[in-house]
Amino acid sequence: MAGILDFTLNGRQRVDAVPDNLLLLDYLREIVGLTGTKTGCDGGECGACTVLLDDKPRLSCLTLAASVAGRRVDTVEGLGHDGRLSAVQRSFHEKLGAQCGYCTPGFVMASAGLLRRNPRPSDDEIKEALGSNICRCTGYVKIIEAVKYAADLAAQGVAP
Ligand code: FES
Ligand code: FES
Repeated sequence: MAGILDFTLNGRQRVDAVPDNLLLLDYLREIVGLTGTKTGCDGGECGACTVLLDDKPRLSCLTLAASVAGRRVDTVEGLGHDGRLSAVQRSFHEKLGAQCGYCTPGFVMASAGLLRRNPRPSDDEIKEALGSNICRCTGYVKIIEAVKYAADLAAQGVAP
């Protein structure tokens, strides 16, 4: 069975016919062509597929595309504006929060969601918010530094 999916993706309305069993991760990558959202474990364990659903992090590998009808989805491609990186994108770059980079879109989206809800998170709140994301390269210290720097940038007016 297929249905019509009508929702907001990265600030723009989008309408597509989608099979009822299509995962949001596969919809984003294969139908829309937004490959920034990564396939990692494909089973809810790694966080590489994290997107924002109405500003809250959501694992797109565990979400049916049809279930986001009428809602707002943001992917890493939607963060920057007018050719400028968002606060979180810039901070991960400047504070070396990425090495191989495979996990980075998921961390960036989870961090952006955190800063939209909580502009000045503590270290413990950052660790809790990123607890569903796994990185095999960085050791996490640089990632936490990046999120704190992103909060500073956001306080200066750069959108998270
Ligand atoms: S690919 Fe979704 S949690 Fe790993
Ligand atoms: S930077 Fe390589 S897995 Fe995180």
